[in-house]
Amino acid sequence: MIRSWHLGDDRQSLVLASFDDRLPEAVYWGPALPTGENLETLSAAALADVTGGMVDRNAGLSLCPEASESFPGQTGLTARNASGAPLMPSFRFESEAASEHGLTLVFADNSLDLSLVFDLVLTPETSLLKLQTRLESADEITVDWLAAPVLPVPAYTGEMIEFSGRWCAEFLTRRLPFAPGSRVRDNRTGRTDHAHFPGLVVCNAGTSNTAGEAFAFHYGWSGGHKMVAEELADGRRQVQFGHATASLASGRHFVSAPLYATYSATGFNGAAVRFQRHVRDHVVQGARTPRPVHYNCWEAVYFKHDLDELKAIASQAADLGAERFVLDDGWFGRRDDDTSSLGDWVIDKRKYPDGLTPLIDHIKALGMEFGIWFEPEMVNEDSDLCRAHPDWVLGNADQIRGRQQLVLDMSNQEVRDYLYDHIADVLKNNDIGYIKWDHNRILPVVDAEQAEGFYGLVDRLRSDFPAVEIESCSSGGGRIDFGVLERTHRVWLSDSNDALERQRIQHDAALFLPASITGSHVGPRHCHTSGRTLDIRLRAWTAAQRHMGFEMDPRELSEAEAETLRNVTSWWKANRDWMMQADILRLDSTDPAVIAEQQLAGDGSRFVAFAALTRPSDQILPRPLRLTGLDPQGRYRLSLVNRDEAPRLSRGAPLLKHQDLEASGQYLMSHGLTLPWRFPETVWVVEGERL
Ligand code: GLA
Repeated sequence: MIRSWHLGDDRQSLVLASFDDRLPEAVYWGPALPTGENLETLSAAALADVTGGMVDRNAGLSLCPEASESFPGQTGLTARNASGAPLMPSFRFESEAASEHGLTLVFADNSLDLSLVFDLVLTPETSLLKLQTRLESADEITVDWLAAPVLPVPAYTGEMIEFSGRWCAEFLTRRLPFAPGSRVRDNRTGRTDHAHFPGLVVCNAGTSNTAGEAFAFHYGWSGGHKMVAEELADGRRQVQFGHATASLASGRHFVSAPLYATYSATGFNGAAVRFQRHVRDHVVQGARTPRPVHYNCWEAVYFKHDLDELKAIASQAADLGAERFVLDDGWFGRRDDDTSSLGDWVIDKRKYPDGLTPLIDHIKALGMEFGIWFEPEMVNEDSDLCRAHPDWVLGNADQIRGRQQLVLDMSNQEVRDYLYDHIADVLKNNDIGYIKWDHNRILPVVDAEQAEGFYGLVDRLRSDFPAVEIESCSSGGGRIDFGVLERTHRVWLSDSNDALERQRIQHDAALFLPASITGSHVGPRHCHTSGRTLDIRLRAWTAAQRHMGFEMDPRELSEAEAETLRNVTSWWKANRDWMMQADILRLDSTDPAVIAEQQLAGDGSRFVAFAALTRPSDQILPRPLRLTGLDPQGRYRLSLVNRDEAPRLSRGAPLLKHQDLEASGQYLMSHGLTLPWRFPETVWVVEGERL
């Protein structure tokens, strides 16, 4: 007997089938099927043959492949009973319930008193499958692995793009062959981490940003994930995501985080746009519009807070166009360097004898909002908090410190209450619109309760201070995922304010993140994390590609630099209403030295293309830059916004250098733009308008 279900829209179809009441398998996932397709026939037709050297029936590559079926690969559940014996459930169909955009399927193993529930949704408009697995047990059991609903990827895929990274180099991508055996990532850091963004894109050799097929995944969880991308000996391929194995525990109720997955027939951009829109319009709640231009004082003053200096800096930042001033680390306890005071969330009277009010008043008078830095989950041994409550620290006493700090046990209600009270106190007594919430080390104990405790604390603060926006930072981009984004409004993508590095990081992050929540700041002339010296035009245009801000001492700017920054900031402000709602489309540059993208308004009426030349090209002249996402029949007027940046060595007369260009979408997408020659470490900015 076959039961079948279909989740689909005009972009994709997922067909699930349960054979003889066994766990459901995705028998089809790909382009939208025509209405009227017979699902039962399709399910039966998907059953593969059996030959020598195999068991007599192919174990289902189900939403939770089972050990009891002798599944020849990673199973979806690994569990033990109270005495440690492995549990080998055989789940059978119990019930189904349809919701407006999804489906809940319940399966049970009555002999073991276990039930397995799959919550499956296809998000309207954004076309993401949002999938969760729940396991309920009558008895206390230990779960070593519970995958979110497991999906197969078809045989015509052959490659995957995986994410790694490090401090100052988040979202590194690597394209690997999908080969027999498994590619496993099990993140033991206790946080999302720079090195383990929980994403995967499965594709084939021909998939590019703008064309080809892709299956993209993201696990929305901040406590560290495990991923398995496996090709079985029989040729089938599966993708599993769940909590990092070290973080799992005993209990009766277990639930995976949501796994977001989508099929794209239009290259990586097809998937990226859905993730970007979903984050912007559905995951992030209540981000202020228009997005204010930030000023963050970290790289200007570090721990040296002097009221008069901060006021002078704020005045200059406002003059450059900043609208929100974020007071970073150093305002609390006796925090003169990073060896002390985390946990003591009281204003340092040595630095602020009259509290923060004089600074806040000054900032408000300049028309800016005031924001402040916290790192709530951390504690220094040299703090009143640690002296009073050494028992609140997570992990062993002799653990290795990280940035001289320890971690608070966020599963402890007393810890959460203490943090809530102190943060709430600062928020109540000061006019604060924004928190930069940091998390600067990996955890000594990998435990899901730590991330849940963090979620609980943020949720409580959000509900009591709904007007306060929060930025998720973790030494830059160490905690970026849809779990944290449900509770915050912006991410600090990286501690690298090096615009060249930033070009690469923000470009790769756009596979999942929209511009409106991705912070990007104009750093100091001499970059503090790379040692490079970069021109203000590169720095300014790079920040203008995302949620713009500044993070240098503005007093270092020459008048000419300040003028450039003022101009780019005004340009950003004039365009942010539509740009922060636009899709970021990554362009397939034919020159590996060029990182290019096009931000296209939702209604297609306008766009802006940014093309950064990160190093000298191998060939003499710029290769035409092919645009994407335009109406082939439509006509567009294009203008090179910063044509005055063309150097004297550009001696010819490409049209865009001197005048606007009118052309069809077809020409712009097929031939592409011929841009003037320029120096490396520059960005061309081209505005386009549909006529
Ligand atoms: C982390 C953050 C930085 C800054 C410092 C302050 O490194 O990523 O942006 O806030 O902490 O100590």
